[in-house]
Amino acid sequence: MVLETIAKIIKVQLPAYLKRLPLPETIGGFVRLTVSEWLRLLPLLGILALLGYLTIRPFLPKKKKQRDSLINLKIQKENPKVVNEIDIEDLNSANVCYCRCWRSKTFPVCDKSHLKHNELTGDNVGPLILKKKIL
Ligand code: FES
Repeated sequence: MVLETIAKIIKVQLPAYLKRLPLPETIGGFVRLTVSEWLRLLPLLGILALLGYLTIRPFLPKKKKQRDSLINLKIQKENPKVVNEIDIEDLNSANVCYCRCWRSKTFPVCDKSHLKHNELTGDNVGPLILKKKIL
């Protein structure tokens, strides 16, 4: 039944549709088409454009995945911008390390996750170390 319907469309309805299309025989003929003739051509032109695109698509340059260029993979993704504010006066210990690799599970404080990140990627990132001068 389905194949019968498809066969009817291909053998009867498609040729009848194509026969009724106002296809001009010259390029200049396209200029003289009326709006209603252009509207009748639209489905065919759409299908041809889609087939053309699908044909050349494998040869188009691939977009680099957005994910590859992200620095921040999971920290506060719900915020449009991650900003951390720390008062210098609140620093209690002599050295505080702040993460610059965006992989720390205790962000913004470094938890040495940069070591694994550097090993996996060949990167060379490390923390920002704030040292408190003890007078
Ligand atoms: S964990 Fe990110 S710099 Fe150390």
